[in-house]
Amino acid sequence: MHRTHTCGELRATDINKTVTLSGWLQTSRDLGGMTFIDLRDRYGITQLVFNMETDAALCEKARKLGREFVLKIEGTVAERYNKNAQMPTGDVEIIVNSLTVLNESKTPPFTIEDNTDGGDDLRMRYRYLDLRRNVVRESLMLRHKMAKVSRAYLDSLDFIEVETPVLIKSTPEGARDFVVPSRMNPGQFYALPQSPQTFKQLLMVAGFDRYYQIVKCFRDEDLRADRQPEFTQIDCEMSFIEQEDILNAFEGLVRSLFKEVLGIDMPSVPHMDYADAMKWYGSDKPDTRFDMKFVELNDIVKGQGFPVFDNAEFVVGICAKGAAEYTRKQLDELTDYVKRPQIGATGLVYARVNADGTIKSSVDKFYNEEQLKRWADAFGAEAGDLILVLAGGTDKTRKALNELRLEMGNRLGLRPKDKFSALWVVDFPLLESNDEDGRWYAMHHPFTSPKLEDVAHLDAGDYGKVRANAYDLVINGVEIGGGSIRIHDRELQAKMFGILGFTPEEAQAQFGFLMNAFEYGAPPHGGLAFGFDRLCSLFGGADHIRDYIAFPKNNSGRDVMIDAPSAIDDKQLKELAISVTV
Ligand code: AMO
Repeated sequence: MHRTHTCGELRATDINKTVTLSGWLQTSRDLGGMTFIDLRDRYGITQLVFNMETDAALCEKARKLGREFVLKIEGTVAERYNKNAQMPTGDVEIIVNSLTVLNESKTPPFTIEDNTDGGDDLRMRYRYLDLRRNVVRESLMLRHKMAKVSRAYLDSLDFIEVETPVLIKSTPEGARDFVVPSRMNPGQFYALPQSPQTFKQLLMVAGFDRYYQIVKCFRDEDLRADRQPEFTQIDCEMSFIEQEDILNAFEGLVRSLFKEVLGIDMPSVPHMDYADAMKWYGSDKPDTRFDMKFVELNDIVKGQGFPVFDNAEFVVGICAKGAAEYTRKQLDELTDYVKRPQIGATGLVYARVNADGTIKSSVDKFYNEEQLKRWADAFGAEAGDLILVLAGGTDKTRKALNELRLEMGNRLGLRPKDKFSALWVVDFPLLESNDEDGRWYAMHHPFTSPKLEDVAHLDAGDYGKVRANAYDLVINGVEIGGGSIRIHDRELQAKMFGILGFTPEEAQAQFGFLMNAFEYGAPPHGGLAFGFDRLCSLFGGADHIRDYIAFPKNNSGRDVMIDAPSAIDDKQLKELAISVTV
């Protein structure tokens, strides 16, 4: 028998019991007459004691053991002299009478501690050692719990989990596909799914009514903290529903996750039109943990002789409560921040509302006290507040002010990780035009239904005005999920492909299977997918989703532990009818 108990289990009530434990040597302390070892497994740590006086040979053996050796011991549970209230097993220790080394270990390349000395790269290379650390294991336990709660919730609403294939034809979700060559069909390739989108729609045609899947998706796109090339979705689809039904069902899922995993009662999730999100926050995923809404200033600031504002298409600002005391240096930092190429503003105008109610701005030359008072009124600014204003082209300026708002939120401590604010962003535009190739692209994906009342704009070729039955769930400024009501009519689907620049032949070749299915009684349907890794990292309070993935890729899309991707040998290439020139 390898163990009678785990290393996290023994308490004062177990004193005098004879026990067997197995685990890894976390630390060892040699105090001359006594040797103490902390033995660790997934469940916790238990202190072992070896006494020179009672068994010198065993104590000598214990002294020679190294970190991460795998041990099996037998001994008696005893009351601990120096109790450790920080540890669940801190009241007891094991007086060891037999010790077996199950396996030795080389000295690990970094310490297996919460605060390890290992850098990112090293820990990725030895991920199996990193996974031994409590913090990393706890992240994956959180993930397990999130999956369990999600499954129970969806099951309670009659969703059934169906697996869809991984070797498929490409789905147009906007990223590049990972492709897999087919040996049996030389020169042809499968694509790995960017999502199971078309399959879940076919399951609705098949009458499954409510589908879900916790599923791997693959996208060959540039990586960021919240993106991995392979990631997991909680993917869902429902039939005979309206948008509201989907939002209610999935708000319920999020609420149940908050309650069961974090013990938080979530208030109901407000809805915000895409147009309002852009107007008030300059982003389709606003962080609503704090207010600081945009105030548009064209009517107030133009025509007073300040050329930057007079010549700008759009002047817009935010009011940072209590930040009037910002020093010149801090304001210069903010100016440098917005002028960075990634943000691209040309400059920053500010106005401080002083304690005595007077207003001091960086453009006092052009605006007198009375005019500045009108600025303050527009923001509802009070004594002690700081007004920050940007000007330029509408879209670019909104984007830049969104960044500045988030930066101010950070600086003012308004974005704590243990505060959550969710919202549904609804009524997205159906299509967006691309300046580079002059084509229209689906903002969500080509299977998204236009709003019925906007179909006339579609018919008139006024594509920019068409809104979609599409929605995103945003929490703390992170896009957690998105979905839509789908097109279930062959004609409309064919028309969409036409608008997106497919010839009828191309549409038939790529999506004939779906359009044909629509000819056999497709029910009205819709759904959504949550980014499961993002949801886990949000719940765990981390910035990187890779902390919640057992074996993640690094920023270059590499798994440095198994060294993938890697070259394959000539024989394999030949079999696959592939010739490589790099
Ligand atoms: P979408 O493309 O919006 O929709 O993806 C859904 C959610 O998946 C997460 N996500 C990612 N997470 C980590 N790494 C990535 N590279 C990554 N890409 C996306 C995001 C996102 O909100 N088929 C549709 C859903 C539907 O219409 O039902 C889809 O995939 O959290």
